[in-house]
Amino acid sequence: MMRIAVLAGDGIGPEVTDEAVRVLEALDLPDLALLHGAVGAAAWREHGHPLPPATLDLARGSDAVLFGAVGDPACDHLERHLRPEQAVLGLRAQLGLFANLRPATTFAGLEDMSALRPEIARQIDLLIVRELNGDVYFGDKGTRTTDDGRREGWDMMSYAEDEVRRIAHVGFRAARGRSKHLTSVDKANVLETSQLWRDVVIEVAAEYPDITLDHLYVDNAAMQMVKSPGQFDVIVTGNLFGDILSDQASMCVGSIGLLASASLGQRQTGHGTFGLYEPIHGSAPDIAGQGKANPMAAILSAAMMLRHSFGLDVQAMRIEAAVGQALADGIRGGDLGGTLGTAAVGAAVRERL
Ligand code: NAD
Ligand code: IPM
Ligand code: MN
Repeated sequence: MMRIAVLAGDGIGPEVTDEAVRVLEALDLPDLALLHGAVGAAAWREHGHPLPPATLDLARGSDAVLFGAVGDPACDHLERHLRPEQAVLGLRAQLGLFANLRPATTFAGLEDMSALRPEIARQIDLLIVRELNGDVYFGDKGTRTTDDGRREGWDMMSYAEDEVRRIAHVGFRAARGRSKHLTSVDKANVLETSQLWRDVVIEVAAEYPDITLDHLYVDNAAMQMVKSPGQFDVIVTGNLFGDILSDQASMCVGSIGLLASASLGQRQTGHGTFGLYEPIHGSAPDIAGQGKANPMAAILSAAMMLRHSFGLDVQAMRIEAAVGQALADGIRGGDLGGTLGTAAVGAAVRERL
């Protein structure tokens, strides 16, 4: 039995997750169990918490989690631990999902939708390996009033060497399976957190003599990504920088509605590596409820799930090829300058499976 926890969440999360589920169902996989749970603002409204214990248990008891998105402007005033975003942060932390893979590759025929010139967009074939359990995301934080009466917010940024080492290994191994080029992105010229990051990545590099390693400061990396994204193969970076660079990479490809992600840890199930799969985008409150979100990122996340958590490479490639074919055939939602809605884009992908 393939047990998949489906946590659709808020805003466009349920809209795009529905289409991903319909693609999975269209594959006629044997023994597919889809188990739905509440997360985010929806869960807070119903159960008083964005990540209810029953949902965490459901995720723990499954082989993989298919996640939509969480976030609701109506919750932005809540105490931080009750905000919808804590659901996805809590799942990543509680399930030990420290390695976030965010691939960004050009789709043939979509070059004109890139924010870059088409000949530059065509070069993009990169993978961002983002550390997901540490950094300023998970350090102590708070607010205080200074002696002279000013309000202050603070967040502690840190990485321990073992945290850096394990994500560096993920980066080097990913590069080994691709073009053997790893770029580590940090801010070592200013931050001690980053200097340690860089030192540890260099230590780990000794175990991967076949991989070319270079280092970029994050500001330069952001510039290089729009100047010549073709120079990147695998990027390994911390939680915050990876968050920002991956949204940027999405517009180099053409839309944030196209980029999928896998969040992985150590745990193995009877089928493969346990993981959480989600689009890199959020709940998009500005278009939620209008049926116009692009479901391709969610659909491609389901493909990553089949590959990493179930070893179903052929079915994963079928989904990826169907998305690529739909785009090549001119299937376009509003995010890509077209008029098709979420359901029509989902149907177009299923027709091409
Ligand atoms: P967002 O990614 O939700 O939206 C950014 C912009 O991209 C919006 O204009 C939106 O309409 C557009 N967009 C996003 N996905 C799209 C899609 N599939 N098709 C077409 N257009 C799409 O980011 P935001 O507006 O900064 O955040 C909104 C909420 O989502 C916040 O509460 C934020 O915390 C949350 N968020 C959650 C996740 C997650 O659950 N993993 C990720 C990012 C943001
Ligand atoms: C993402 C999101 C999350 C992050 C938020 C919602 C906590 O932006 O998955 O990219 O910052 O990691
Ligand atoms: Mn993000």
